[in-house]
Amino acid sequence: MAALAAAALSFACGGGGAGGVVSTGPSDPTAACRAKGSADEQLACFTALYGVTPLEAPPVVSDARFSVGVSLFTSTKLSGTGKVACVSCHANNNAGVASPVALNGRTLTRALHPSLRGGDADDPANLASIQRNAPDLVNKLLGTPQFMFHDGRVAVDGRGGFITPVGDKLPAGLENLLAAQALIPLLTRDEMLGYAPGTNGGRSENATAGLVADPVEANPQPVWNAVMQRVLADPALAKGLADAFPDVPPANLGIQHVANALAAFQTRRWNAGGSAFGFHGWLRDRERWPLAANELRGGLVFFDKGRCAQCHNGPKLTDAKFHNLAVPQIGPGVGGGASETPRADKGRYEVTRQDADLYAFLTPSLWEVRATAPYFHNGVYDSLEKTIRHHFDAAGHAQAFRCASDAPLLQAGVQVACRDSQNAPALYAAMVGRLPSPLTSMPPLGDAEMADLIAFLKKVTNGNNGG
Ligand code: HEC
Ligand code: HEC
Repeated sequence: MAALAAAALSFACGGGGAGGVVSTGPSDPTAACRAKGSADEQLACFTALYGVTPLEAPPVVSDARFSVGVSLFTSTKLSGTGKVACVSCHANNNAGVASPVALNGRTLTRALHPSLRGGDADDPANLASIQRNAPDLVNKLLGTPQFMFHDGRVAVDGRGGFITPVGDKLPAGLENLLAAQALIPLLTRDEMLGYAPGTNGGRSENATAGLVADPVEANPQPVWNAVMQRVLADPALAKGLADAFPDVPPANLGIQHVANALAAFQTRRWNAGGSAFGFHGWLRDRERWPLAANELRGGLVFFDKGRCAQCHNGPKLTDAKFHNLAVPQIGPGVGGGASETPRADKGRYEVTRQDADLYAFLTPSLWEVRATAPYFHNGVYDSLEKTIRHHFDAAGHAQAFRCASDAPLLQAGVQVACRDSQNAPALYAAMVGRLPSPLTSMPPLGDAEMADLIAFLKKVTNGNNGG
């Protein structure tokens, strides 16, 4: 699939190199699409050009794995603090899972609810945010994914194994990239692990967190063992795991089976593959499942005028590459220098240390995007319209962003750490100066075109995930 999209793009870009502006010459395939008779035919031509094909059916997941996967995804036993579950951050009000916190929408947010840290909710220090927005968990295993996380720090290694922050400490027997990813939040202090007694001003103390010194990733096994002991001490979870992995003697059940079950649950629960709804139905059979006129027009803005498909292409509407969009810096950011307050998030650069990757983040899939607010790696925008307007004038929006008025609240009354172009001019100059094509030369977009584009994006759904 990826090869197909790449092949299509190599001529869509008219030889202008990566990210080059679509050419308008006589042999330009985009001109051929524009020349088609109807909007429906034009859109069909563009989707073929950019390798946007129907999503494959998801891998089959047994009922037993799904069932224990739900229980694990919603279990606070996986956290050192005993107060945080996967669903605390990756919530779905339509997921058939009981959410411990009231959330509206399929994914929350970078917001860290005070109880997540297991600390005292009256202590302002516990009202902090984690660095990044929790991504949606839709279609994660479709289309041979290469990366997890906004910066791709969990990745396939091309030899059937995985690259992760724990290096060679990853257990054997992980079935896929999603399973490899699932082991990492268990080790992250501000997510599920918490802090050792005496190390965090008396907050979030727990014994599991005290088992190993930082960086936890260098010695993860004691934490995974402690989590596994708690899981197996719960009769329902222990039986669920044994049922889900009938070939594994109970004594051999390990953290990799927890990870495989978590991946299985996510794979079956959040999946647009095979849907006959919306844009997916249209991709499969446009006569049987047509799009409305405004949605077709919006689709053409997406593929043609708006140049969205130069990055959002292929079956998942992502090029699986990293780009800097000069997204305003809110939240503490990952990595960076200790002298920065709050730290700027340098994105993919934190993984590769290549200047070309500064402030670059993975192009997200856009399936179910109507339900995945807030948007971008740090959740800075709460609406599709703001997110799209940023794409059309990234430099202008980055420079005009003001923490005092534009930084969203994490929850009632909790302000997020934030840097804007007034208090961090060098950061914004660096981000804006590195904007890639085509974001430096976007055409103006009228209000009617914007409305059409949003109508189209709202159809990029399988019709039953959240929202
Ligand atoms: C405290 C909030 C929090 C908890 C708890 C949490 N996550 Fe996440 N999750 C995040 C954030 C934030 C990211 C993105 C981090 C980044 O990109 O650096 C993420 C990323 C992911 C991703 C990668 C998705 C993608 O598109 O790259 C998956 C999959 C995931 N989490 C699954 C899980 C599972 C499974 C659990 C439970 C074991 C879990 N998460 C617990 C906040 C959380
Ligand atoms: C240069 C490549 C590129 C182009 C062109 C592009 N995008 Fe994006 N888009 C990205 C990247 C990268 C992100 C994530 C940035 C981040 O998180 O910092 C993103 C994020 C988004 C998001 C937020 C999704 C989420 O879950 O957070 C939406 C919506 C979106 N793009 C829509 C569009 C539309 C509509 C267009 C055309 C007008 C477009 N994009 C053009 C690269 C691109």
